[in-house]
Amino acid sequence: MSGSREEVVAAIVSKFKETPGPLLVVLHAVQNELGFIPPEIVPVIAAGLNLSRAEVHGVISFYHFFRSAPAGRHTIQICRAESCQAMGSRELEKHARQSLGIEFHQTTADGQITLEPVYCLGNCACSPAIRVGDAIHAHVDSDSFDSIVADLQTEAVEVKS
Ligand code: FES
Repeated sequence: MSGSREEVVAAIVSKFKETPGPLLVVLHAVQNELGFIPPEIVPVIAAGLNLSRAEVHGVISFYHFFRSAPAGRHTIQICRAESCQAMGSRELEKHARQSLGIEFHQTTADGQITLEPVYCLGNCACSPAIRVGDAIHAHVDSDSFDSIVADLQTEAVEVKS
């Protein structure tokens, strides 16, 4: 889709505004198209759907899935569902947050890594599991997490040079 962000969003709103309960549909479509929901386009969505800006903001902030800023170059999802928790994903989460210096839904200062929770990757037999981009990693512990992150950082350096 070409055009300014406002034009892109206006076209999405126009396409879905007659859909029942259009706000979530529009927000998903915007994030799909732009990668995030820029705060400056909230008024476009609100006006197009005849909602207040506060209503649109409220829904964006309620659902952690929606981002108000671009994701990092890589997204690491750590599974928080039952099987992974039973196999140590809580400790893995703690290690990930500490080693990256961010919380879930945040991105490292260098813009490289976004950390997200996920609820089952369909890889329960190999818990704890994480997903990096499209790749699922099994039996991840603190050491293997660090080596996955180191590989991502090496890749980033190679891309720069
Ligand atoms: S519970 Fe983590 S992959 Fe299923």
